[in-house]
Amino acid sequence: MSRRVRSLSKLISVAKPCLLNQADAGIVSQTRSPTINFVLGGPGVGKGTQCARIAETYGFTHLSVGDLLRKDISSNSVYGDMILETITKGKIVSSEVTVILLKSAIESSQTDRFLIDGFPRSEENRVAYEQLIGIEPEVVLFFDCNEEEMMKRVLHRNQGRVDDNIDTTKERLRVFEAYSLPVIRYYSQKGKLHKINATGTEDEIFKRLRPIFAT
Ligand code: C5P
Ligand code: MG
Repeated sequence: MSRRVRSLSKLISVAKPCLLNQADAGIVSQTRSPTINFVLGGPGVGKGTQCARIAETYGFTHLSVGDLLRKDISSNSVYGDMILETITKGKIVSSEVTVILLKSAIESSQTDRFLIDGFPRSEENRVAYEQLIGIEPEVVLFFDCNEEEMMKRVLHRNQGRVDDNIDTTKERLRVFEAYSLPVIRYYSQKGKLHKINATGTEDEIFKRLRPIFAT
Protein backbone atom coordinates (compact mmCIF):
# COMPACT_ATOMS: atom_id res chain seq x y z
CA MET A 1 0.00 0.00 0.00
CA SER A 2 1.41 3.44 -0.87
CA ARG A 3 2.10 5.94 1.90
CA ARG A 4 -0.66 8.19 0.55
CA VAL A 5 -3.29 5.43 0.58
CA ARG A 6 -2.16 4.38 4.07
CA SER A 7 -2.49 7.91 5.42
CA LEU A 8 -5.93 8.26 3.82
CA SER A 9 -7.09 4.95 5.32
CA LYS A 10 -5.83 6.13 8.70
CA LEU A 11 -7.68 9.42 8.42
CA ILE A 12 -10.89 7.67 7.40
CA SER A 13 -10.66 5.23 10.30
CA VAL A 14 -10.37 8.19 12.68
CA ALA A 15 -12.91 10.46 11.03
CA LYS A 16 -15.64 7.98 10.16
CA PRO A 17 -16.73 7.10 13.70
CA CYS A 18 -16.81 10.86 14.48
CA LEU A 19 -19.02 11.42 11.47
CA LEU A 20 -21.40 8.67 12.53
CA ASN A 21 -21.53 10.01 16.10
CA GLN A 22 -22.39 13.41 14.76
CA ALA A 23 -25.11 12.06 12.50
CA ASP A 24 -27.85 14.19 14.04
CA ALA A 25 -25.90 17.40 13.77
CA GLY A 26 -24.00 16.37 10.67
CA ILE A 27 -24.59 16.25 6.96
CA VAL A 28 -27.07 13.41 6.86
CA SER A 29 -29.72 13.28 9.53
CA GLN A 30 -33.44 12.72 9.87
CA THR A 31 -34.02 16.40 9.21
CA ARG A 32 -31.23 16.98 6.76
CA SER A 33 -30.43 15.03 3.61
CA PRO A 34 -28.74 17.37 1.16
CA THR A 35 -28.95 17.02 -2.58
CA ILE A 36 -25.51 16.89 -4.15
CA ASN A 37 -24.63 17.47 -7.81
CA PHE A 38 -21.05 17.32 -9.08
CA VAL A 39 -19.71 19.52 -11.88
CA LEU A 40 -16.63 18.40 -13.79
CA GLY A 41 -14.62 19.61 -16.76
CA GLY A 42 -11.09 20.68 -17.67
CA PRO A 43 -9.43 24.00 -16.82
CA GLY A 44 -11.09 27.05 -18.34
CA VAL A 45 -14.10 25.11 -19.57
CA GLY A 46 -16.50 27.52 -17.83
CA LYS A 47 -17.62 25.43 -14.83
CA GLY A 48 -17.61 28.41 -12.46
CA THR A 49 -19.55 30.70 -14.80
CA GLN A 50 -22.21 28.12 -15.57
CA CYS A 51 -22.46 26.98 -11.93
CA ALA A 52 -23.17 30.57 -10.85
CA ARG A 53 -26.04 30.73 -13.37
CA ILE A 54 -27.43 27.29 -12.49
CA ALA A 55 -27.26 28.18 -8.78
CA GLU A 56 -29.12 31.44 -9.31
CA THR A 57 -31.75 30.09 -11.70
CA TYR A 58 -32.47 26.71 -10.14
CA GLY A 59 -31.75 27.42 -6.47
CA PHE A 60 -28.50 25.74 -5.54
CA THR A 61 -25.56 26.69 -3.36
CA HIS A 62 -22.46 26.75 -5.53
CA LEU A 63 -19.35 25.37 -3.82
CA SER A 64 -16.21 25.64 -5.93
CA VAL A 65 -13.65 23.29 -4.43
CA GLY A 66 -10.83 25.28 -6.09
CA ASP A 67 -12.18 28.38 -4.29
CA LEU A 68 -12.35 26.50 -0.96
CA LEU A 69 -8.68 25.54 -1.39
CA ARG A 70 -7.69 29.11 -2.36
CA LYS A 71 -9.57 30.47 0.69
CA ASP A 72 -7.71 28.02 2.89
CA ILE A 73 -4.41 29.41 1.56
CA SER A 74 -5.48 32.96 2.40
CA SER A 75 -6.60 31.96 5.88
CA ASN A 76 -3.02 30.90 6.72
CA SER A 77 -4.08 27.39 7.69
CA VAL A 78 -1.50 24.69 8.42
CA TYR A 79 -2.14 23.27 4.96
CA GLY A 80 -1.81 26.62 3.17
CA ASP A 81 1.77 26.20 1.91
CA MET A 82 1.15 22.65 0.68
CA ILE A 83 -2.07 23.69 -1.11
CA LEU A 84 -0.40 26.70 -2.75
CA GLU A 85 2.51 24.57 -3.96
CA THR A 86 0.16 21.90 -5.35
CA ILE A 87 -2.06 24.42 -7.17
CA THR A 88 0.97 26.25 -8.55
CA LYS A 89 2.19 22.98 -10.07
CA GLY A 90 -1.25 22.13 -11.47
CA LYS A 91 -1.47 18.92 -9.42
CA ILE A 92 -4.27 17.59 -7.19
CA VAL A 93 -4.32 18.37 -3.47
CA SER A 94 -4.48 15.39 -1.10
CA SER A 95 -8.02 14.15 -0.79
CA GLU A 96 -7.90 14.05 3.00
CA VAL A 97 -7.51 17.84 3.07
CA THR A 98 -9.96 18.60 0.26
CA VAL A 99 -12.79 16.41 1.54
CA ILE A 100 -12.53 17.80 5.06
CA LEU A 101 -12.79 21.36 3.67
CA LEU A 102 -15.77 20.31 1.55
CA LYS A 103 -17.51 18.55 4.43
CA SER A 104 -17.10 21.59 6.61
CA ALA A 105 -18.51 23.90 3.89
CA ILE A 106 -21.58 21.68 3.43
CA GLU A 107 -22.15 21.40 7.18
CA SER A 108 -21.87 25.10 7.81
CA SER A 109 -24.29 25.99 5.03
CA GLN A 110 -27.92 26.70 5.91
CA THR A 111 -29.01 25.31 2.55
CA ASP A 112 -29.53 21.77 1.28
CA ARG A 113 -29.02 21.80 -2.48
CA PHE A 114 -25.42 21.92 -3.63
CA LEU A 115 -23.49 22.18 -6.87
CA ILE A 116 -19.98 21.00 -6.11
CA ASP A 117 -17.71 22.45 -8.78
CA GLY A 118 -14.35 20.84 -9.63
CA PHE A 119 -14.86 17.71 -7.58
CA PRO A 120 -14.21 14.75 -7.51
CA ARG A 121 -11.09 15.50 -9.48
CA SER A 122 -9.67 11.97 -9.17
CA GLU A 123 -10.69 8.48 -8.13
CA GLU A 124 -8.90 9.18 -4.84
CA ASN A 125 -11.13 12.27 -4.31
CA ARG A 126 -14.20 10.18 -5.10
CA VAL A 127 -13.34 7.35 -2.71
CA ALA A 128 -12.48 9.77 0.13
CA TYR A 129 -15.80 11.56 -0.46
CA GLU A 130 -17.70 8.27 -0.33
CA GLN A 131 -15.98 7.34 2.93
CA LEU A 132 -16.30 10.69 4.70
CA ILE A 133 -19.47 12.24 3.27
CA GLY A 134 -21.10 9.44 1.34
CA ILE A 135 -24.10 11.24 -0.16
CA GLU A 136 -24.75 9.82 -3.61
CA PRO A 137 -24.75 12.62 -6.23
CA GLU A 138 -27.98 12.99 -8.18
CA VAL A 139 -26.45 14.50 -11.29
CA VAL A 140 -22.86 14.68 -12.52
CA LEU A 141 -22.31 17.33 -15.19
CA PHE A 142 -19.34 17.11 -17.50
CA PHE A 143 -18.57 20.23 -19.51
CA ASP A 144 -16.76 19.04 -22.60
CA CYS A 145 -14.56 21.23 -24.78
CA ASN A 146 -11.39 20.79 -26.82
CA GLU A 147 -8.01 21.48 -25.23
CA GLU A 148 -7.08 24.32 -27.57
CA GLU A 149 -10.22 26.24 -26.59
CA MET A 150 -9.70 25.55 -22.87
CA MET A 151 -6.11 26.85 -23.06
CA LYS A 152 -7.34 29.95 -24.89
CA ARG A 153 -10.00 30.67 -22.26
CA VAL A 154 -7.56 30.23 -19.34
CA LEU A 155 -5.02 32.57 -20.93
CA HIS A 156 -7.69 35.17 -21.69
CA ARG A 157 -9.15 35.38 -18.20
CA ASN A 158 -7.44 37.71 -15.84
CA GLN A 159 -8.17 36.68 -12.27
CA GLY A 160 -4.59 36.84 -10.99
CA ARG A 161 -4.44 33.10 -10.41
CA VAL A 162 -1.01 31.48 -9.94
CA ASP A 163 -2.03 28.58 -12.18
CA ASP A 164 -3.43 30.50 -15.18
CA ASN A 165 -0.27 30.33 -17.29
CA ILE A 166 0.78 28.13 -20.22
CA ASP A 167 3.03 25.67 -18.36
CA THR A 168 0.71 25.05 -15.40
CA THR A 169 -2.32 24.79 -17.67
CA LYS A 170 -0.58 22.17 -19.83
CA GLU A 171 -0.06 20.17 -16.64
CA ARG A 172 -3.68 20.76 -15.53
CA LEU A 173 -4.86 19.39 -18.89
CA ARG A 174 -2.62 16.35 -18.49
CA VAL A 175 -3.86 15.82 -14.92
CA PHE A 176 -7.47 16.20 -16.10
CA GLU A 177 -7.01 13.46 -18.68
CA ALA A 178 -5.13 11.10 -16.38
CA TYR A 179 -7.10 11.57 -13.15
CA SER A 180 -10.50 13.14 -13.89
CA LEU A 181 -11.51 11.14 -16.98
CA PRO A 182 -11.65 7.90 -14.93
CA VAL A 183 -14.14 9.61 -12.57
CA ILE A 184 -16.19 10.74 -15.56
CA ARG A 185 -16.20 7.18 -16.91
CA TYR A 186 -17.26 5.89 -13.47
CA TYR A 187 -20.33 8.13 -13.31
CA SER A 188 -21.13 7.47 -16.95
CA GLN A 189 -21.28 3.75 -16.17
CA LYS A 190 -23.60 4.53 -13.25
CA GLY A 191 -25.93 6.42 -15.60
CA LYS A 192 -25.46 9.72 -13.72
CA LEU A 193 -23.35 11.62 -16.23
CA HIS A 194 -24.71 14.47 -18.34
CA LYS A 195 -22.17 15.48 -20.95
CA ILE A 196 -22.63 19.10 -22.02
CA ASN A 197 -21.10 20.60 -25.13
CA ALA A 198 -19.19 23.55 -23.63
CA THR A 199 -18.40 25.35 -26.87
CA GLY A 200 -20.39 28.40 -27.92
CA THR A 201 -21.57 31.43 -26.01
CA GLU A 202 -22.37 31.45 -22.29
CA ASP A 203 -26.09 31.65 -23.13
CA GLU A 204 -25.93 28.78 -25.62
CA ILE A 205 -24.20 26.56 -23.08
CA PHE A 206 -26.61 27.53 -20.31
CA LYS A 207 -29.63 26.65 -22.51
CA ARG A 208 -28.26 23.11 -22.89
CA LEU A 209 -28.66 22.66 -19.12
CA ARG A 210 -32.37 23.42 -19.01
CA PRO A 211 -33.56 19.82 -19.71
CA ILE A 212 -31.52 18.63 -16.72
CA PHE A 213 -32.61 21.18 -14.12
CA ALA A 214 -35.96 22.59 -15.27
CA THR A 215 -38.03 19.56 -14.30
O1 C5P B 1 -11.42 23.98 -10.21
P1 C5P B 1 -10.31 24.97 -10.23
O2 C5P B 1 -9.76 25.24 -11.62
O3 C5P B 1 -10.60 26.23 -9.48
O4 C5P B 1 -9.10 24.28 -9.45
C1 C5P B 1 -7.85 24.93 -9.33
C2 C5P B 1 -6.84 23.97 -8.74
O5 C5P B 1 -7.23 23.60 -7.42
C3 C5P B 1 -6.64 22.66 -9.48
O6 C5P B 1 -5.81 22.78 -10.63
C4 C5P B 1 -5.98 21.82 -8.39
O7 C5P B 1 -4.63 22.17 -8.22
C5 C5P B 1 -6.77 22.27 -7.14
N1 C5P B 1 -7.92 21.38 -6.90
C6 C5P B 1 -7.67 20.16 -6.31
N2 C5P B 1 -8.69 19.28 -6.07
C7 C5P B 1 -9.95 19.60 -6.39
C8 C5P B 1 -10.25 20.87 -6.98
C9 C5P B 1 -9.20 21.73 -7.22
O8 C5P B 1 -6.51 19.83 -6.03
N3 C5P B 1 -10.93 18.72 -6.15
MG1 MG C 1 -13.53 27.31 -11.12
